Amino acid sequence: MGRLDGKVAIVTGAARGTGAETAKMFVAEGARVLLGDILDELGQVVASELGDASACYQHLDVTREEDWDAAVATACEHFGPVNVLVNNAAILEVRSLVETSAETFKKIFSVNQLGPFLGIRAVFETMKAAGGGSIINISSIDGLEGSNGVAVYTSSKWGLRGLTKAACQELGRYSIRVNTLCPNPGSSEMVAPFYAEAIERLKAADEPLPSRPVHPFARHGDVGDVARAIVFLASDESGFISGCDLPVDGGWSAGKIEPGAPSS
Ligand SMILES: NC(=O)c1ccc[n+]([C@@H]2O[C@H](COP(=O)([O-])OP(=O)(O)OC[C@H]3O[C@@H](n4cnc5c(N)ncnc54)[C@H](O)[C@@H]3O)[C@@H](O)[C@H]2O)c1
Repeated sequence: MGRLDGKVAIVTGAARGTGAETAKMFVAEGARVLLGDILDELGQVVASELGDASACYQHLDVTREEDWDAAVATACEHFGPVNVLVNNAAILEVRSLVETSAETFKKIFSVNQLGPFLGIRAVFETMKAAGGGSIINISSIDGLEGSNGVAVYTSSKWGLRGLTKAACQELGRYSIRVNTLCPNPGSSEMVAPFYAEAIERLKAADEPLPSRPVHPFARHGDVGDVARAIVFLASDESGFISGCDLPVDGGWSAGKIEPGAPSS
């Protein structure tokens, strides 16, 4: 028996990285999944590997209401009422706050904040009809604190936690749970372009390269760690959990390791 038997899910940003891993794990646990993304070729490949009976791909630009309506209609038609939504799609820009344009701000917020808002609205009726459901909004450790170079991304990820808490209050009466996941690990494809540029800049200026964030675990996490936590929040095992911010960061956001102090 799978932990997600009988679940019908929509996963956004599912063509690669965390979203693709989540779709695969969902199917392995018995769910049927509509994968949405704007990277159509990649998304089709992931879905076809999972098989027609369990997965289908649809172009879903999360900023477009009509794409949401079409995706929900397709999921219902193929698999039945939707009871899980994973708002995973997001974009990143690494730039200093004062160099970031208003256009960039609007673009990031339209994917990272408006997208999940439209998603929640789009699935509401089908989830209500299904007798309840679970919505998982993928934030970040950048939604738990502030870092340099990612002011707009950070703002959008904090905003997503607010959206989660408000939606939790409004939708609980329909047995719809809404939670936020705050991962440290993610796809290298999202961050690599920016950090390659940053590393080149530091090298050119003969400055030391940035060190990796320190957390108490001996290993670094990966998208599998994140997807397993998403499975938990999607499953009935988390049936009384709503409105939470769940870090998946190996303890990174719990504090810091003080060099030189006992147990460092
Ligand atoms: N990469 C990291 O280091 C990291 C760390 C913490 C949190 N996260 C979060 O994890 C989630 C998954 O990101 P990832 O690490 O797999 O990165 P990723 O870039 O591989 O995945 C994001 C996906 O979203 C899709 N996408 C972008 N704009 C879209 C739109 N308008 N409509 C639909 N899909 C769109 C992309 O095509 C991509 O497939 C995101 O919410 C991200 O903010 C990532």
